[in-house]
Amino acid sequence: MIHIALLGFGVVGSGTAEVLTKNRSLIEKHSGKQIEIKYILDLRDFPDHPLGNRVVHDFNLILNDPEISVVAEMMGGSHPAYEFTKAALAAGKHVVTSNKEVVANFGVELLDVAREHGVNYLFEASVGGGIPIIRPLQNDFAPDNILSVSGILNGTTNYILSKMKNDGAEFADALRQAREKGYAEADPTADIEGLDAARKIVILCALAFGVLIPPSEIEVEGITKITSDQVAVAESLGCAVKLIGHTERIGDRVLAQVCPHLVPASNPIHHVEDVFNGILVNSDPLGKTFFYGAGAGKLPTAGAIVADILNATSSDLVLPVWKRAEKNEIAGSRERNVRRAFVLPGCAKCAERAKPVFGFEQYVVQEGAFAFLSRPMTGEEVENALRELGKEPVWTLPVLD
Ligand code: HSE
Repeated sequence: MIHIALLGFGVVGSGTAEVLTKNRSLIEKHSGKQIEIKYILDLRDFPDHPLGNRVVHDFNLILNDPEISVVAEMMGGSHPAYEFTKAALAAGKHVVTSNKEVVANFGVELLDVAREHGVNYLFEASVGGGIPIIRPLQNDFAPDNILSVSGILNGTTNYILSKMKNDGAEFADALRQAREKGYAEADPTADIEGLDAARKIVILCALAFGVLIPPSEIEVEGITKITSDQVAVAESLGCAVKLIGHTERIGDRVLAQVCPHLVPASNPIHHVEDVFNGILVNSDPLGKTFFYGAGAGKLPTAGAIVADILNATSSDLVLPVWKRAEKNEIAGSRERNVRRAFVLPGCAKCAERAKPVFGFEQYVVQEGAFAFLSRPMTGEEVENALRELGKEPVWTLPVLD
């Protein structure tokens, strides 16, 4: 019998209890293990819940109970989640979590504490909700050289961008609809400004390249400035606008960034609609591998927590080795050699002049402007090209091929 404690009984915490109750016999059959929720830590009481009698308000009860072998942290926010996690690991308890903020900011230290005390710290639920992405990256890609990881890592913004594309809605209207559906939080800032995706891409970057860059040190741009006009131009170029978290190795440095990209139909990420997530891993020798599924939501995320509880107790240590990125190990988006979408002011004659400079054949004419997808270019090459043409772009975004 595995005795566990749930920290936080919100959406993911109560979902975990639901999955453990609903699928009890299935879990026992597959894993040969019985999981018993002994404590639920929350500020609130839940007198009407069948597990209401397990609710406690003092974390020390959990910490000092030798019967508790796994703590599932689903509180959200950095504090006191970080302090509770560290204390539980130091007390020799495995910790599993959906809390990307804690993993992204304190992952290096918490993995070290876990290693020191011979316990696991697992976080499958922190990125991509129910999509298995953390464990595959850590285990199954071990023989591969990972070149890049790119994906739609936030369901709320993908819902908004899908609405803008499919219904021609403006951002504010699509956000209102996301709120009505219960996807967007009362304060949707972390989603629409790209901060939630930033926390997730730094975790994927650390898994792919072994260095954790604090989310505050990466370039992040959300979707608040995207207009329905831009979405329509992207469509005329055969692309969808998607908020992408991207990480790649550039020389001996690592880039991680979040910003809107134009994604051509040839990329499976183009077709990820609504609140779904999709993550593309490019590695050698495997090539491109695509992960798709429910990136958010109560039960999918809870399923990943339960899988981690089972893994924490059935494996030897399965901890990645990360180090904190030094400043000189972090690349900027300017160094990225990538195709880019441009809208430049001018007429068809200007477009013809721009063709050899930006390396494109086809373009779309708009009122007083033309749009095209360039050859792969670094930021410096873009600046030189624009200088040569004497133009400032109306807008430009990277392309995710
Ligand atoms: N707000 C997040 C999203 C929840 O929309 O994807 C999952 O992390």
